[in-house]
Amino acid sequence: MDLDSSGFPARRPRRMRSSPAMRRLVAETRLGVDDLVAPLFVREGITRPQPIDSLPGVSQHSRDSLRAEVTALAELGVPALILFGVPERKDDVGSGAWDPDGIVQLAIADVKAEVGDSMVVMADLCLDEYTDHGHCGVVDGAGRVDNDATLELYGRVANAQAAAGVDVVAPSGMMDGQVAAIRRALDGDAATDVAILAYSAKYASAFYGPFRDAVDVTIADGGDRRGYQQDPANAREAAEELRMDVAEGADMVMVKPALTYLDVITRARDLVNVPLAAYQVSGEYAALHAAAQRGWLDLEAAALEQLLAIRRAGADFILTYFARTMAELFAQA
Ligand code: PBG
Repeated sequence: MDLDSSGFPARRPRRMRSSPAMRRLVAETRLGVDDLVAPLFVREGITRPQPIDSLPGVSQHSRDSLRAEVTALAELGVPALILFGVPERKDDVGSGAWDPDGIVQLAIADVKAEVGDSMVVMADLCLDEYTDHGHCGVVDGAGRVDNDATLELYGRVANAQAAAGVDVVAPSGMMDGQVAAIRRALDGDAATDVAILAYSAKYASAFYGPFRDAVDVTIADGGDRRGYQQDPANAREAAEELRMDVAEGADMVMVKPALTYLDVITRARDLVNVPLAAYQVSGEYAALHAAAQRGWLDLEAAALEQLLAIRRAGADFILTYFARTMAELFAQA
């Protein structure tokens, strides 16, 4: 140990914690409005926003209430949003996902008309909100999700979202080859400017529970997504998924969920040089709210600590249901 002449420690880390200004000066990680992406739900056939019980403060939006929410986010300086659609009708292939008049396509156009280039408009690209069985792809005779048949449909969804004016498509279905298939479909349709944010390392997580309420998804026959989403036991496999997605042309990559996979975020940061996102998912958000409602946690402090941890682990930006609250907080500071 480094000791001074009287035998005391020569360096005292507490000197660097002596005042708020000192702590701000030496902070290694920063969290600000530029790091936030707001996930937003838009539901077909409603005229008023409908609160989601399991996600306090989050609603399924009508087309009108979505525009109002997005305008507020733009005024707060939030740089990006990601849209999820809740269609009125579902079918076995999820055709609502690529219908030019489907709810997400209409919402993309609405939002773009509202905020133009002042926000990056992303859309989740998957079929689960649109299929009656709740899987992220088409199901074959044996009840398995057919990878390659699904890729063709993802290409259609990408082209429909691009035609509606989306800036970034975010494939979340964990089909092999989805990034390449979507890039090919977009480029073949002259949508070379549309970027791909790949949910590269997406785990089969228990923390998606409240989201499935938000989009009215129940997986048929008590099924799950373990046949296509990653096993929580595996981190090296995540490195392979990330590497392959970048090779297939992903412009940005994501790790999801965030908090239970901070190690994967750190590995991803070392591995890839494209922008890295992390998704603080519905169950992570809901758990904090539930504890705070009982007075067991200070919501704002706990949320800030988790978001900072996700940044510290290596994420460049965070998809979080706290986006608006945090943007309001940062605007006051
Ligand atoms: C799939 C999708 C899911 C989430 C984002 N995209 C659900 C799933 O894979 O079951 C979860 C997001 C969250 O829990 O906040 N379209």
